[in-house]
Amino acid sequence: MEKDHSASNQKKSEFESDETLTNRQGHPVTNNQNMRTVGNRGPATLENYDFIEKISHFDRERIPERVVHGRGAGAHGYFEAYGKVGEEHPSKYTRAKLFQEEGKQTPLFVRFSTVIHGTHSPETLRDPRGFAVKFYTEDGNWDLVGNNLKIFFIRDAIKFPDFIHAFKPDPVTNLQDGERQFDFISNYPEAMHMITFLFSPWGIPANYRQMQGSGVNTYRWVNEEGKAVLVKYHWEPKQGIKNLTQKEAAEIQAKNFNHATQDLYEAIEKGDYPEWELFVQIMSDEEHPELDFDPLDDTKLWPENQFPWLPVGKMVLNRNPKDYFSEVEQVAFGTGVLVDGMDFSDDKMLQGRTFSYSDTQRYRVGPNYLQLPINSPKKRVATNQRGGQMQYKVDIGENQNPHINYEPSTIGGLKEAEQGGKEHTPHVEGSIVRESIDRQNNFKQAGDTYNHFEGWEKDELIVNLVNTLAPCDERIQTKMVEMFKQCDPDYGRRVEEGLKHADSSNTSSREPMGAEGAEDAPRKAEEKG
Ligand code: HEM
Repeated sequence: MEKDHSASNQKKSEFESDETLTNRQGHPVTNNQNMRTVGNRGPATLENYDFIEKISHFDRERIPERVVHGRGAGAHGYFEAYGKVGEEHPSKYTRAKLFQEEGKQTPLFVRFSTVIHGTHSPETLRDPRGFAVKFYTEDGNWDLVGNNLKIFFIRDAIKFPDFIHAFKPDPVTNLQDGERQFDFISNYPEAMHMITFLFSPWGIPANYRQMQGSGVNTYRWVNEEGKAVLVKYHWEPKQGIKNLTQKEAAEIQAKNFNHATQDLYEAIEKGDYPEWELFVQIMSDEEHPELDFDPLDDTKLWPENQFPWLPVGKMVLNRNPKDYFSEVEQVAFGTGVLVDGMDFSDDKMLQGRTFSYSDTQRYRVGPNYLQLPINSPKKRVATNQRGGQMQYKVDIGENQNPHINYEPSTIGGLKEAEQGGKEHTPHVEGSIVRESIDRQNNFKQAGDTYNHFEGWEKDELIVNLVNTLAPCDERIQTKMVEMFKQCDPDYGRRVEEGLKHADSSNTSSREPMGAEGAEDAPRKAEEKG
C-alpha cells in the first residue's frame, strides 16, 4: 500500500512560520511584490525562477472544459439505504451492497450542471440539467450519471455529436441559433418528446435543489443467483420541484447569472442540507412486446401505473467543496462505473456513453485521472497499471512484490478476486446490422406529456416554441407543425396559429430556446412537491 509521507514533510525552516508563503519547491518566498530586474525600472532577468514558476503555472490554470456540461456546481454528502426496494428486500433484485441494510450510509459527491454552454454561462438558460452522483461504496465507485429530465433527445449514440453540434453555437458566428436546432429536430422525430419538456417550464429548473434527477438510460440489477431485471433510477427532491417561466428566468439572469451555484452553496453553508429520495422502476429483463414502446428506448417514460416508483434510499448533501477546481472541475463520472450487483443493459445509448466518458476524461483531465482524490475510490486499489502523465502514486497491493506488475505470478503478484454471486451471462444472438429499433412510436408519449401539463405550462410551451420557430426557415416551420400535430392535434394547431401571428421579421438576434421578446404565459411558476 502506498504510504502517505506528507505529514513528515511539515518541518519548517528557521525562517518560516505556519503562514509563510512558499513556492512549489518549498522555498520560502521573501518578496512576492517585485520580480528580479536590473535596477528598479528593469529590464527583467531570465533566471527569475520564482516569477517564471508563478506565471507559467498561472498560464496553465485551465484544463479543457467538458465538451458538454461545462458549467456546474458540486457538493459532498451521503446516501442512506432504506434496506428495502418498495416492500421487498433489495437482495431479491440486486446484490449491490449499498442498498442491503436499513440505515447504511455511503459517502458521495454530486455535480449538477447545464449542458450546452461553457463554464461561466448563465444558469438560467433553457437546457437540461446534469445530475451526476459518485457513490464511494465499499465495493468501489458507482457513478449514476443522470439529468433532471427523465428522457433524452436521441436513442442511438452515433447521433450525439450531430445533436450537440446543432445545439451548440454556430461554428462561424459563435451564436446559439434556434434555426440550427430546429433544422436538426425537424428531421429527427424521436426528439419530439424531449422538446416538449424542454420548451415547457420544465426546461428551466429554478435551481439545483428543487429539481428531479434521473438515470435516463436503462441498467440491469443482478442478484446473488445471477438473475437480472431492468432498472431505471429517479431522484425526487424533498425541497419540492420548482421551474421558471421564460420571463422569470430573464429577470433573474439580469441580476445574477450564478444563482443556482449560489443557492446550493449558501443552503449547505447555513446547514439547510438538501435531500433527495432515490426511487427505482423495475421491469423483467425481456423485450416486452405488449408495450407500445421499447423498454430500452431512452426517449420514453416507463408508465408509473405499470412500473411503480419504488423508494430505495435518500441522499443528503451536507458539505461544500474546499476547492472548486480540484473537486468540481476535475471530478470525472462515467456510465461504465458500476459495482457488483449492477450491469449494463443493451440500451444502445448507454453503451455509446460508456465508451465516451472515460475516453474524454483521459484527454480532459489526463490518463491518471482516477488517482485524483475526488475520483479515487475510498477503498483499497491495487492494479498492475503503471506510468502515464502525472502518475503520483503507485496503486500497489500491501503484500505485492513491487517488481511484479503483471499477472499471473508465482512470486508475489496480485491475484484475481473470487467471484462473489453468480455471474450474469445474458445470451445474445442476431445478425450484425445498422438499423433503428422497431417500436419507435415517436409522437404518442410527447402528446401524453403535453396533455398532462397544467394550463400555464402549455401556454409557456407554445409561446417559447413560437418565439424560437418564428424566425426559422418556413420549411422547418412546416415540418415542425406537422410533427406537433402528430403528437396531439391541439398542440400542433396552437403552434401553427402562434406562427401565423408571430413577428417573423424579428430575426435581429435569432435567440434560441424561446428567449427573445418572450411574452410570458399568463400564470406564474408554482411550487410543486
Ligand atoms: C457529460 C457524452 C448522453 C448526462 C458528458 C461528457 C461527455 C458526454 C463526453 C463530458 C464528460 C467529462 O468531460 O467528464 C455523452 C454521450 C451521450 C451522452 C456520447 C450519448 C450517446 C447523456 C445522457 C445523459 C448525460 C442521456 C443523461 C442521463 C451527462 C452528465 C454529464 C455528462 C450529467 C456531466 C457529468 C459531470 O458533471 O461531470 N457526456 N453523453 N449524457 N453527460 Fe453525457
